[in-house]
Amino acid sequence: MKFYALRGAITVEQNEKDEILSKTRLLLNQLIERNDLENKDIVSIIFTATKDIDAVYPAAAAREMGMTNIPLMCCQEMYVEGSLPLCIRILMHIQLEKERTLQHVYLGKAVTLRPDLAKLTIAIDGPAGAGKSTIAKLLAEKLGILYLDTGAMYRAIGLKILKNGGDPRKPEDVIPLIKDTDVKVQYEHGKQKVYLDGQDVTDEIRTRQVSSAASDVGTIPEVRKKLVELQRQIAERTSLVMDGRDIGTHVMPNATLKIFLTASPEERARRRWKELKEKGTEVEFDTILQEIIQRDLNDSSRSCAPLRKADDAVLIDTTGKSIDQVIKEIENLLKV
Ligand code: DC
Repeated sequence: MKFYALRGAITVEQNEKDEILSKTRLLLNQLIERNDLENKDIVSIIFTATKDIDAVYPAAAAREMGMTNIPLMCCQEMYVEGSLPLCIRILMHIQLEKERTLQHVYLGKAVTLRPDLAKLTIAIDGPAGAGKSTIAKLLAEKLGILYLDTGAMYRAIGLKILKNGGDPRKPEDVIPLIKDTDVKVQYEHGKQKVYLDGQDVTDEIRTRQVSSAASDVGTIPEVRKKLVELQRQIAERTSLVMDGRDIGTHVMPNATLKIFLTASPEERARRRWKELKEKGTEVEFDTILQEIIQRDLNDSSRSCAPLRKADDAVLIDTTGKSIDQVIKEIENLLKV
C-alpha cells in the first residue's frame, strides 16, 4: 500500500450553513473526481475552518455524501492577522494499492494560497455555435472557478463602433475609438455582466449585427492587442475557463488543458436558428447558415491570431452530443 496526504481549500462568501455545506461538497467532489478516488481509498479527513465560520461543521457535508465510515475531524484554523478569511481547508489521508500522482485542489479565493499547486486554466476555442459558452460556463461552475467569455469583449468593441456610426471593418474608424474604451466582464449574483465605458451592455451585445461587427473588429491587430492584454491580466490572478478563438494558441499558450470544440456548420446554424426562434426572431435557416460560414471565414482567415486548433488541444466534435456528454469528456481529461 502507498500512503498519501492530499490538500484542498475553498472559500465561502458568507458564514451561512447551506453555502458552507455546498462549497465543502464541491471541494470534496473535486478532490475525489480529479484523483479518481473511491471512499475505500480515504483513511481520514481533517477539516479546518477560519474563525469567521461557525454556522455548521464542514464535515457534515462529507457525512451527507455517505462518508459514514471515514474518521472525520473539524478544527479551527489558527488565526494569523491578514490571512485569507472565510476559508475551509481539507487534509485527506489516502491509501492506494499502486503509486500515483495526485492533484491538490484549491478553489475560489483559496487559489491564492497555493498558486504553484492549484492554478487551473482551461482554454476552449472553436467556431461560432460549437457550444463553447454553454460548455465553458457549466464547466467553470462545476469546478468552482471563473468563466471568462472573451467573445463578449469583442462584441462590446463591435457595439461601440456601430453606436458611433463607424465601419467595424475599417481600422481608421476603429483604432481612434478603442484607445479610451473601457470593457469589463464581471459577475453579479452569479450572472455575467458586460460593461462598455461603465454602461451595462449585457443584452445589447447579443444581436446578429453585433455578432458580425465583433468578428470584423477582431481582425484588427490593435483591438486584439488591447483585449488580449486584459484577458492575460485576468488569467494571471485566478483559475478560470476562458473561451474564444485564440485562447489556446495565443492568449494562454500554457493553459492546463486546451479544448477545440467544433460541430458541422449545419448543426451550428441549427442551434443558432433555434435559439433565435425561441427568442421570437424569425430568420431563414439559410441566412443563419451563410452568416455562420462568413464568420468562420473571417475568424480563421485573418492574419492576426486566426481561429486555429492549438497543436496540443484536444478536438471534441459536439455534433449529435448532449451537453452532459461533452462536460463528462472534458472532466475525464482533467483527471491525473
Ligand atoms: O464567441 P462569440 O460569438 O461571442 O464571438 C464573437 C466574435 O468575436 C467572433 O466571431 C470572433 C471574435 N472573437 C475573436 O476574434 N477572438 C476571441 N477570442 C473571441 C471572439
